[in-house]
Amino acid sequence: MWILPISMALMLLVPLLMYLRASCRSNNPVALPINWPILHMFPSFVANLHNMPAYFTLVLTGSGHNFRAHGPPGTGMRFFVTCDPANIQHIFTTNYPNFPKGADFAAIFDIMGGSLFTIDGEPAHRMRAKVKGVLNGPLLVDNLASYCIDKVKNSLLPLFAHMVSIDAPFDMQEMMSRFMFDLSATSLFGVDPGLLSSDLPPMDVAVALDTVMEVGFFRHVMPTSCWKLMRRLNIGPERKLSMAHTVLRSFVLEMMERWKNNTCHTGNDHSGVDIMPPFLNDPDYADDELVLAMIISYLLAARDTITATLTWVFYNLAQNPNVMSTIRNELSPIASGKAASSASTMVIFEPEETKSLVYLRAVLYETLRLYPPGPIECKTVAADDIMPSGHKVRSGDTIFISVHSMGRMEGLWGNDCLNYIPERWLPDDGSLRYVPSHKFLSFNSGPRICPGKEIAIMQMKTVIASTLWNFDVELMKGQSIQPKPSCILKMKNGLILKMKKRQM
Ligand code: HEM
Repeated sequence: MWILPISMALMLLVPLLMYLRASCRSNNPVALPINWPILHMFPSFVANLHNMPAYFTLVLTGSGHNFRAHGPPGTGMRFFVTCDPANIQHIFTTNYPNFPKGADFAAIFDIMGGSLFTIDGEPAHRMRAKVKGVLNGPLLVDNLASYCIDKVKNSLLPLFAHMVSIDAPFDMQEMMSRFMFDLSATSLFGVDPGLLSSDLPPMDVAVALDTVMEVGFFRHVMPTSCWKLMRRLNIGPERKLSMAHTVLRSFVLEMMERWKNNTCHTGNDHSGVDIMPPFLNDPDYADDELVLAMIISYLLAARDTITATLTWVFYNLAQNPNVMSTIRNELSPIASGKAASSASTMVIFEPEETKSLVYLRAVLYETLRLYPPGPIECKTVAADDIMPSGHKVRSGDTIFISVHSMGRMEGLWGNDCLNYIPERWLPDDGSLRYVPSHKFLSFNSGPRICPGKEIAIMQMKTVIASTLWNFDVELMKGQSIQPKPSCILKMKNGLILKMKKRQM
């Protein structure tokens, strides 16, 4: 009786293990995933989980920018993977209603259920209008700018100076994560959780947010029934996720409590000043679970993306001293005016001053081209359709759009596409090269394009300019830079840097 199930299990496991071993050994992986009997391409996906963006890029380059993949029968895993700009324009803009995120996406990110991140159609349209209205509010934008300046001036730069004084290398990814956590929470509620204080307190909530994105990635590549069973049994990554949900819930409750107390003491309802109050005062958002979902999704949208981008910026700058010098040359006229009027030893660059700096923006775009924080976008197919590339997709298929691969396509960016060259964004007339969003997808494209782009650029420019003007940044030798398997392109082992006070 038991021989049959065991032999079936072996039939599934043996090719999987063989493939895993082969992939681990091979330095020259094949360009197209092997289509195994029964398991189809599932083993290829599993074997490359540790570096899915690079794997997609390899396969997409070898397959003419599109390929199909299937999981084992009965799992419902039918994927179409693309980085073809014509297909991307079709999916994100021209035939946008046919490519919702879908019910599986909402289930994968269940803690954000009902928030803008997980919904489609008319409800998304309505909620997006409200979110955009809040994010565009002039009072809010001014407030976000001053939170950022304060945090850079009073926490980030003093912490870097402390690291310099004790001559200690540190993990820049962790610092950026702490910095962005405090900044995002302050923008939400006007309350600073203080993760960037000098004693570097535990960062359980930030780690819980990372877990949501890591297990979200795992859920994307597993058969739905498989992760749902693990969730019911509370085992493996699902157990970790369930603990993360508990941490996030209690953090949000605590912050709401602190926000309410703050409001009672000051008599100020913060309308238009912080992000959450306009929602908390709106009866359409009276549901506590929805408020939780919105807060978590805001923290992920605004914190994780910027943390990842800034980390990759510093990684690239440390390797390209010429780029660092050009940024400083661009900052120099602003700094000389400030040095004359200020006795302070640290120079801080304010958003109004860095707004027009095109080279600094080019550095950000070049980083986002090669290291988009959301390396893979996911959509489903509502009704059968034919892509501009001629590929047919069927209702219920999942489409993976490889943003990471788009930034590495020779046809789009030239044969130096793998090199870090901010100058590619700068034509000779001093403007910034325009690339349509269906070719430079890091901020998404079409009706769901990121509404926080300019806020993000403002915050990142403030951090980079103020850090680089005051400090030299050096990469510690011998570290291995690898991506973390996650929906966000973070570094698995962090980014260890050493800083020195800059001699001027
Ligand atoms: C480097 C920084 C950032 C990048 C690269 C980025 C990129 C993106 C991308 C790719 C999406 C689409 C996600 C999806 O639907 O799958 C998105 C959506 C969104 N982003 Fe950003 N983002 C950044 C920063 C921000 C900031 C700072 C804010 C808020 C102040 C923000 C607010 C949002 C919101 C609300 C959405 C949802 C829009 C919708 O679904 O219609 N983002 N962003």
